[in-house]
Order: sequence, then structure tokens, then C-alpha cells
Amino acid sequence: MRLANKNLVTIDDLSNGEMEAIFSLANEMSGTMNEQFGLCRGKVMASLFFEPSTRTRLSFETAMHRLGGSIITVSDVGATSLAKGESIADMARVIGSYVDLIVIRHPWEGAARVVADYSSVPVINAGDGGHQHPTQTLCDLYTIQKDKKTIKGLNIALWGDLKYGRTVHSLIFALAKFGANILFYPTPGLKVPEHVLKKLTMEYGGELERRDTLNRTVKDSLIPLDAIYLTPSSPHQLAMMPNLNLQVETRTGIDALYVTRPQKERFTAAEKGQELKKSHPVVDKKMLRGKAFRQTLVMHPLPRVDELAYELDADPRSRYFQQAAQGVPVRMALISLLLGIKEVPLPAEDTLPEIEYPLYRREFGPSCPNPRCVSIQETETKYLQPEFKVVNREPLTLRCTYCEHGFEPRYVASSDWHKGTIATKKYHSAVSHWARKIRPEYLIVFNSEEEALARGFKPSRFSGMRRQGKSKKQ
Ligand code: NCD
Repeated sequence: MRLANKNLVTIDDLSNGEMEAIFSLANEMSGTMNEQFGLCRGKVMASLFFEPSTRTRLSFETAMHRLGGSIITVSDVGATSLAKGESIADMARVIGSYVDLIVIRHPWEGAARVVADYSSVPVINAGDGGHQHPTQTLCDLYTIQKDKKTIKGLNIALWGDLKYGRTVHSLIFALAKFGANILFYPTPGLKVPEHVLKKLTMEYGGELERRDTLNRTVKDSLIPLDAIYLTPSSPHQLAMMPNLNLQVETRTGIDALYVTRPQKERFTAAEKGQELKKSHPVVDKKMLRGKAFRQTLVMHPLPRVDELAYELDADPRSRYFQQAAQGVPVRMALISLLLGIKEVPLPAEDTLPEIEYPLYRREFGPSCPNPRCVSIQETETKYLQPEFKVVNREPLTLRCTYCEHGFEPRYVASSDWHKGTIATKKYHSAVSHWARKIRPEYLIVFNSEEEALARGFKPSRFSGMRRQGKSKKQ
């Protein structure tokens, strides 16, 4: 059984078959809650929450208690040696030597990856900054599947803070895996990050139609629409896009509306000043009175603030409290599978569609541009080397292995051609033909000419080429 001893850091760690296996076990367990006691007797789970949490922590802990296991828990970073400057790696090694399973929530993006890399036991990411929250996604999908029986072909609308909402980021990839269409309704200024959208279309196929290319009636018919992702498994073609509005309104409608709160704790100073929430309507009965919302499941990972009206609590379409309640059986199933205590059959053809990208790892050179990435934090740089996947050659794009932010470096050089011949130690613009020519294992990238000059590289005649438009940080 592939799930035993696995880590769950991002939703990519699970195949569709594995997710289905978790759902079927959760289903079985939710009907026989009291019979599960004792299943995890003798097992200990560490529950480490370095950011506020109600549902995730308490449902993980309830799940372990219901399975008859024990927990050790920390819910305050100030109460651990991290406050004394200890690294995440050291903490992970030590706690991994005490327990059988670690659940971690941390504000730094990629922190759960580091814990998984340095501990000897399975690790579950319970939210790492604005990056991912895969177990919330399991609860979300389980909720949708219970009602709609399938996820394939559904129209799922995502609403609110799509920039910092980690639940949304995991959900986007999971919906794509299961073949759903996604409608993006971000609060102005809080759109889905480019690196998430790039990964979505590069790795899961399908088409992304942005607002400026959307038909007028489509983009403003219900509520302002920023983009649509059309799954490749769906019968509609881009040519049918003008009719999507018609389809959405009269035939299938919106199957689920996933509302999220503004993640103010991650806002930049400029974003705080803008009071973003005021510019987005509250989801209430009035908004949902159109035909398209007749069968819509109203979802929210919770906590809600002002974005979802309390009047919807009694509405038969609301599902957010069920979503939260599913947290216990879903996490019971996950814990018992990762600990290897339960096994469920997986379809033979079920595999993880792993894309092998060349890795970029050097002692010098750019660090991750994301200020919340674990790899650039002072306590972690003593042992973590920046590491990127080269996900595209044209334009040359690197993706941080930890937080998955992408960027397009401005200059390239080769470690092969300058060997021994200092005169050829040249750097070139990343938009020149050299960027495609240099083999991945010889590739050196720089974000500025100063960085290249400081390493002893001289400008080539191709160093001054500029890319069209703005230089991109995704
Ligand atoms: C979410 C989270 O922490 O990312 N909550 C949860 O786990 N159910 C959503 C949020 O905080 O807005």
C-alpha cells in the first residue's frame, strides 16, 4: 500500500486513487466511529501549530483520540526552542525521534517540506503560510463528492482571497486532477498567483481564459469573473466559450461556490491600507437567488469574517459546517493509512503523474524571491541551499522546491564553457539564444548584472537583450 509512511506536503503527493481511498475509508469510519477506538493504540502524533487554528488542530487531535492513539501538542511558537533560534530541521529530527507522525502548521511557505525532509516519520502539512493546505482540500473534495457523486465536469467557483488562501491553492490542483472546471472570482487585488496558474495549465493541461479575452456576457453576467479554467476532460471547447454563460446559467449552473476570507495576516503594508474586502460583495441570499445558484453548494474552509452572511446558515445549499465536521473522519482515515494500520486497495493503473524537471542547486546565485519562503529565513539558511526546478526554458523559469514560487532569472551563464578559459567566463541575457543552449547541469543563473560581475563573469554581446514587457516575478 503506497500510503504507509508517506508525507502529505502538497496535494501533488496524492494520486486520485489515493484520495478516493481516503474518502472511502472516511465514509466507512464515519458510520462506525465508536468501533475505531484502539486502532492506533500505542501510536503518538505530534500536533505542532505555529499559527492560529481551531478546526484543523482540533479535528486532527480528535481524530487521533478517536483512533485510541495519543498526541503531544504545541500551539505556541514561543513555547518551543524555535523561539531560541533553533532551526526547523533540528526540531523535526528531534520530534521525529519521539513520535510516529507529525502534523505541522507554520507561517513559512515550504516549512512542512523541510520537516518532511528532516524527520524520520510521516509528516502532514496542516498549512504552510499561503502555500498549501492539502488536508483541508481532502475535506472539501469529500464534501463535494458526497453531494454531487463526482467531481469530474463540475463547475466550481472560487471566491475571495485567491492570492494568499492556501486552501484555494491546494484545491485548484485537486480540482484539475479530478477534471473540474474552475471559475475565479477574486477580491480585486487578490488574484491567484501567476505561478499557481502556470503550474495548473503546464502540469494538468486544460485551458485558462483570462478576463480580457472573455466574452462580455460571460465575464459580467453573474458577478465579475477574472478567469475560467476549462479542464481537458470536459467536452466543451474554447470555441464554445461564448456559450459558457448559457451553459452555466441554464444547464449545469455553478456546482459549488467556495468562499474564503481575506487572509489579512499575510497582507503587505500596501494591501492592508487598501482595505480590500470592502470592494467585494458579501455572499448572501440575494446574491445567490439566480438560476445558476439553484444547486450550488456554498462552501467555506472557515473561519468566516464578513464575506459570508449568517442568513445562509439555514439555507439548504450551505455546506461549510459539514465541511468542518468531515475533518474528523477524513483525518482519521488519513492517519490510519499513513501509519500503515489500515490498507485499502488502489486501482492498478493509478499512478502519480510525476513530471521530472531538472534541478537547479548552486552554492551561490539567486535565492527564492518569496519573502515568506522557508529557504531564505535566517535560522534555515545555515543548512538549506536554495533549490529550484527548471520548469521552463522559454522563458527560462525556475520554481522554488520549497514554496513553489516561480521567477524568470535575467541572466544566464554556463559552468562548462568557462572552465580553464577565464576569458570565456561570460554571462548572457536570459532571453538570448544561450538560455536554451546551456545544458541544465551547466546552467548558472543571475538576477542582476552585479551578481554576475561579482562572480567574475563578464558581459557577452548578448547580455544587453531585454525581454518584451516587464521582467517577471510570478
Ligand atoms: C483555513 C486555513 O487555516 O488556511 N482554515 C482552516 O484550516 N479550516 C482558512 C483560513 O484561515 O481562512
